[in-house]
Amino acid sequence: MQKKELLYEGKAKKVYNTEDPGVYIVSYKDDATAFNGLKKGTIVGKGVVNNQMSNFMFRLLEKQGIPTHFVEELSERETAVKRVTIVPLEVIVRNKAAGSLSKRLGLEEGTAMRCPVLEFSYKNDDLGDPMVNDYHILAMGLATREELDQIAAMSLKINQLMVEFFKSVKVDLIDFKLEFGKTLEGDIILADEISPDTCRFWDADTGEKLDKDRFRRDMGGVEEAYAEMMKRLGL
Ligand code: TMP
Repeated sequence: MQKKELLYEGKAKKVYNTEDPGVYIVSYKDDATAFNGLKKGTIVGKGVVNNQMSNFMFRLLEKQGIPTHFVEELSERETAVKRVTIVPLEVIVRNKAAGSLSKRLGLEEGTAMRCPVLEFSYKNDDLGDPMVNDYHILAMGLATREELDQIAAMSLKINQLMVEFFKSVKVDLIDFKLEFGKTLEGDIILADEISPDTCRFWDADTGEKLDKDRFRRDMGGVEEAYAEMMKRLGL
């Protein structure tokens, strides 16, 4: 499988088309940004970690019946994926309060939620990905009722599977962000990535942060945290 033309370059990935109209190639970069691109840096080796960890998670979820865009890992940084149109929503699932939820609701980081919290943001960098609810999503035509119900059910199922898996490697899954895509056939499947960039991982025993918050908050030990997550996954 060969890259043809660069279709899109985002903050952390590049997307290419291929000879196969149903297959794209994603290439993961070491570039890191935070606060909607305001903070910029490099996390050495991040592209490799995020590629391999995402593929590990997509395979795990596929085995449990979650359809994903994963096709084939091509190299350390590159993966063939199904061509989709990304639903312009960031879907956030939270098990414990942290980050923007802690700020917004005045909850101490680490406060357990009585049930998982599902949030949606409208994917729009110019607007800073504002939070939206079902009404905004339907009114703006970002997704249909059916698509939204399917996205919500899949996200909660993915949360169950991920919480259980990460528990087995002594990691507390605090929260994470998902993106979904629509295939040429109109099916909704899991897309984008699942990595320390898009999840909050805390060591189950010590509470040590093993994710991008170390970069966002200038905590140091960023590369080491990404490497530790790879080790936990046996990668
Ligand atoms: P938040 O607490 O900043 O809203 O982040 C919630 C989760 O979503 C956290 O695991 C980090 C992830 N996230 C992204 O993947 N991309 C983003 O642009 C933001 C703001 C958060």
